[in-house]
Amino acid sequence: MSEIPEHLLKRSRSAKAGKSGGDAGASESAPAAASPSAPAPAGGSAPAAAASVPANLPNLDPEPVPAKPEPHFVVAAKARRRVPVWALPIVAALPVWAIAYPGTMQEPPREDPLITESTLLYTEEAGCAGCHGAGGGGGLGYAFTNESLLETFPDPIDQMVHVARGSAAIQGQEYGAERRDGARRVSGAKGSGQMPAQEKQLTQIKLEMVIFHERELAGEEQTSPEYIEWMDNMRERFEGGEATPIDLDFLLACANPEITPGATGEGSPDPETEPCPGPPPAEEDA
Ligand code: HEC
Repeated sequence: MSEIPEHLLKRSRSAKAGKSGGDAGASESAPAAASPSAPAPAGGSAPAAAASVPANLPNLDPEPVPAKPEPHFVVAAKARRRVPVWALPIVAALPVWAIAYPGTMQEPPREDPLITESTLLYTEEAGCAGCHGAGGGGGLGYAFTNESLLETFPDPIDQMVHVARGSAAIQGQEYGAERRDGARRVSGAKGSGQMPAQEKQLTQIKLEMVIFHERELAGEEQTSPEYIEWMDNMRERFEGGEATPIDLDFLLACANPEITPGATGEGSPDPETEPCPGPPPAEEDA
């Protein structure tokens, strides 16, 4: 028979000894921990005490107080529907709106057809903006945003003549009123080409409207009763679809000979039915 090696026997022996020793150790503590129903050791432990309160000990829990009926207004307040959380920013913004809204009422967007149409004519249809800038800042043509335009043409009628016949028609001649710097314009002096004649390009009403717009760009005061009368007149004629062609001789009769070369200053041949275009002369004080 084969012999079991000594070291294996030894391991087996010590394993047996260890097992019985371990069991002995565990038997001391296991029952108490493992089974709460086991008799409590002397002195008692927490689980045992909590398990049952002896009947003869007073119950220290406060007596439940019967709830008082809530006042009706509290009940009503609780039942009331609240502002949902998502709506809070809207509610918070209401005062701002309340202040801002009347402001928008006071300033309705300015939608005067005369303003919008004359702007369109200047920038698109007649193409003035291409050489004078959409805002009148100038380019190939003169700028309108400095004082020179209104100093050169104190009255719109002389500006109408200049635009209608163009600069080449009076090449090298002085035109316009004497400016504050003591000089007058000389046609062609800008040296960047000519002001193209508009006599055949525009109708009379459109000529007046682009000139009105240029003067607006130049910052003209357009508040006198006469000026407002001209504006009302243009608005009415434009909306009525007027298509009267430009009559250069008529414009020259209306223009000021001191400002416009070739002007006669005779005035309209029939002021009643066909007054000179532009703001009517201011009424003289009696
Ligand atoms: C092709 C470019 C061009 C276009 C388009 C043009 N202009 Fe001019 N304009 C000029 C030039 C260049 C001059 C200056 C010419 C000169 O040297 O006398 C001028 C001069 C003028 C002047 C004189 C200004 C001053 O201070 O003496 C007026 C007013 C004017 N243009 C109005 C208009 C109007 C209104 C339109 C649109 C209907 C228009 N222009 C379209 C090039 C243009």
